[in-house]
Amino acid sequence: MVGIRKCLFPAAGYGTRFLPATKAIPKEMLPILNKPLIQYGVEEAIEAGMDTMAIITGRGKRAIEDHFDISYELEHQIRGTSKESLLHDIRNLVEHYTFTYTRQKEMKGLGHAVLVGERLIGNEPFGVVLADDLCEGEGKGVLAQMVELFEKFRCSIVAVMEVEPDEVSKYGVVAGKELEDGIYVVSDMVEKPDPEEAPTNLAVIGRYILTPDIFEILRRTEPGVGGEIQLTDALKTQAQEGMVLAYKFRGKRFDCGSVDGFVEATNYFYHKFKD
Ligand code: UTP
Repeated sequence: MVGIRKCLFPAAGYGTRFLPATKAIPKEMLPILNKPLIQYGVEEAIEAGMDTMAIITGRGKRAIEDHFDISYELEHQIRGTSKESLLHDIRNLVEHYTFTYTRQKEMKGLGHAVLVGERLIGNEPFGVVLADDLCEGEGKGVLAQMVELFEKFRCSIVAVMEVEPDEVSKYGVVAGKELEDGIYVVSDMVEKPDPEEAPTNLAVIGRYILTPDIFEILRRTEPGVGGEIQLTDALKTQAQEGMVLAYKFRGKRFDCGSVDGFVEATNYFYHKFKD
């Protein structure tokens, strides 16, 4: 059985929560220690067995393409010096994996960004990583845990975590029946609900495995919350017409699209590497 080969990285958003840092720099290029967020995401996808990174960019995001490319001048300059090892990992990614890009020309939401990725993905199941959610899996990466689950159930899967009741309005929230420990068959999904209206406190985070019928569903999904085409709404349809699982992943997740989460991740990884 062929595993999941491609991973989609919607990275076209404006990153307004991180202004002014994100005025000219894509939020996905902000570093945790010395590595940009998107590189952590790419490494997680590779660990899950994927070899093709399909990146949705937008205006002002060229630094992402430059990062996953050779930098002749720089590499020539540091060749033979002690600094050469700092480029070892990124050079390995550039040499051995495929990076494809397309631009989302109008920011019409995450669902729209995924639909823009259809040409890069084609008719096969794929992973999705929102690089500003930095995840560290327990035992194995979060995406690798989800691929393992996909091999058993062959349907779309969203990663979820429990959040405080007053935090639910920042997330897509799922309701469902627990099938096995930490695995739910989704019956309902709501984007950014009011705390009183949230069906549960199980919040969707930025890791998904999607089956390709999601594209056809996205095409008929009307704009939802904030006038954007919401991936949550399309997944709700997919859950009602077929099956979607929610998976309570093992590990940690940092919301690096917010200043608090970014600082938390920086401290966590700094102490981890120092120890
Ligand atoms: P977010 O809402 O977290 O990202 O979207 P944002 O819009 O960049 O950030 P803020 O809220 O203004 O600070 C979730 C993910 O979906 C992508 C974003 O890049 C992010 O990874 N996205 C969102 C798109 O690619 N296109 C869109 O139209 C919207």
